Amino acid sequence: MAICAHCGAGLPPGTNVCPGCKKPVSTVDDNDDTGSTLYGVRPDTVLGGRFRLMRRIGSGGMGDVWLAEDTELHEQAAIKILRDTLVGDSEALGDLKKEVAVTRKLRHPNIVAVFDLHIESGLYFIVMEYVEGCTLAHALAKRGIPFELAEILPWARQMATALDYAHQQGVLHRDVKPANMLLTHDGTAKLADFGIARIAEDTETKVTGREASGTLPYMSPEQLMGEPCDNRSDLYSLAASLYELLSGKPPFHTGSIATQIQFKPPQQIDGLSGSANEMLLHGLAKAKEDRQTTCLELVEQLHDWLDQQAFLPVPDKERKNPFARVDGCKKLEQKMRLTELFERLEHCRRAEIRQVLDALEDALADEERRQNAY
Ligand SMILES: Nc1ncnc2c1ncn2[C@@H]1O[C@H](COP(=O)(O)OP(=O)(O)OP(=O)(O)O)[C@@H](O)[C@H]1O
Ligand SMILES: [Mg+2]
Repeated sequence: MAICAHCGAGLPPGTNVCPGCKKPVSTVDDNDDTGSTLYGVRPDTVLGGRFRLMRRIGSGGMGDVWLAEDTELHEQAAIKILRDTLVGDSEALGDLKKEVAVTRKLRHPNIVAVFDLHIESGLYFIVMEYVEGCTLAHALAKRGIPFELAEILPWARQMATALDYAHQQGVLHRDVKPANMLLTHDGTAKLADFGIARIAEDTETKVTGREASGTLPYMSPEQLMGEPCDNRSDLYSLAASLYELLSGKPPFHTGSIATQIQFKPPQQIDGLSGSANEMLLHGLAKAKEDRQTTCLELVEQLHDWLDQQAFLPVPDKERKNPFARVDGCKKLEQKMRLTELFERLEHCRRAEIRQVLDALEDALADEERRQNAY
């Protein structure tokens, strides 16, 4: 399900006002029209004779991202204008061209499509699919409290499927993190920025002499050390991202992060069951051989574990009061979910009402199963 960029509440399809915070639904997360833009580029500038820049969406390590109109196809596109530090580095640019060529071949519903790399009067920009929604990093920040495992698993599964698909094509992402996970209003999660991906067979010697690419808190020990990486390096970053979504912080976030990534075992997440913690920490093992073998394996383990919880007998002391296990925060979440369902009934069309009724039926069946356990 899509979530509100302001408070992180679930957003029923077609909702214009968030049922949680009552603010208008925000379509982009950063709304970063403030501050100076790279090269002083302004809205209405036409790049490549075709892409009319509309609004700067955000800014990252590689440059500025703009929402643009493709005036030939009459479609929206996202344009990433690259920083001049990169433009000055001919070797880095050569690598980037190769990476864009590889990334262009990836076609997956959970991967942000990259269309092209353009060079115009010394300005380099990448044209990508525009994803209307917000990043999971932004959703977490706005929400202010970590997500529940059940909430993130649908997104985690989509990310894992996308990563396993790319790995089968021989492409590593190398910068998996919540800031590169975009969530649309219909609840589709898409992985952005295979921009630093390289062909898996490539050896790290190609980048010798340069700092490891990626973002430190999510980087596997081998990526940090410039050692050969494989799909399990992305798996580590996925586990680190899930860890952050579930606890509010990546596994190592203060002090000497690099040293801790190499040597310190991550702490278990408070409030998450021991078994689920173990699965996550398995993905964060220091040696890649000690991790799960695919991204989906990690997510399916978490999924199976959660499924089992629904059928576990309720301990005696909780039988008298079926809400004993539900703390205040969870009650609030339940209330918000119910409010959401009602909102959907008000706003949506017949087919969608059918979907909501199906969802309610499932919820009731779950409840019945729980009652039968008494
Ligand atoms: N294809 C896209 N569609 C819509 N919004 C996007 C797209 N790509 C990026 N964004 C937005 O632009 C912002 C900046 O993205 P960018 O990739 O430049 O930064 P980052 O991911 O935070 O850092 P990094 O440079 O390490 O990738 C993101 O937070 C996201 O909100
Ligand atoms: Mg990014």
